[in-house]
Amino acid sequence: MAISVKLLAALLVLSFISTGNCQCVLNNITISQKMTGFQIHGMTEWDVTITNNCICSQSDLKLDCKGFATTLSIDPSILSISDNECLVNNGKPIFNSKPITFKYAQTPKFNFKPISSQISCS
Ligand SMILES: *[C@@H]1O[C@H](CO)[C@@H](O)[C@H](O)[C@H]1NC(C)=O
Repeated sequence: MAISVKLLAALLVLSFISTGNCQCVLNNITISQKMTGFQIHGMTEWDVTITNNCICSQSDLKLDCKGFATTLSIDPSILSISDNECLVNNGKPIFNSKPITFKYAQTPKFNFKPISSQISCS
């Protein structure tokens, strides 16, 4: 009896530690934008960098794209637009050291907001 209680306690501690390892949240994705200085069909062109600042990868990243209307087409494997959502990187993981970049053209600048992702720690 005493052994099984200890075992249970050890398991609890272990599971706590393993979830404690992953402190990543959706907000660890940052999106920065820079003007390229070019105009595409009369719209300002922007260079977007999506960075995952946390050690765990994030896949299936979706952005709020309501009102997004670029005059420059974007490779759908980088950003695929459907209805009011944009899927980043074809749903594949975004790693800590590998930012995703793309360009679009719209005036004024469009603010992309992350809405959901799958966080996985290896
Ligand atoms: C991830 O976000 C959490 C909560 O906002 C924050 O405490 C943590 O420092 C962030 N980690 C990195 C690496 O930015």
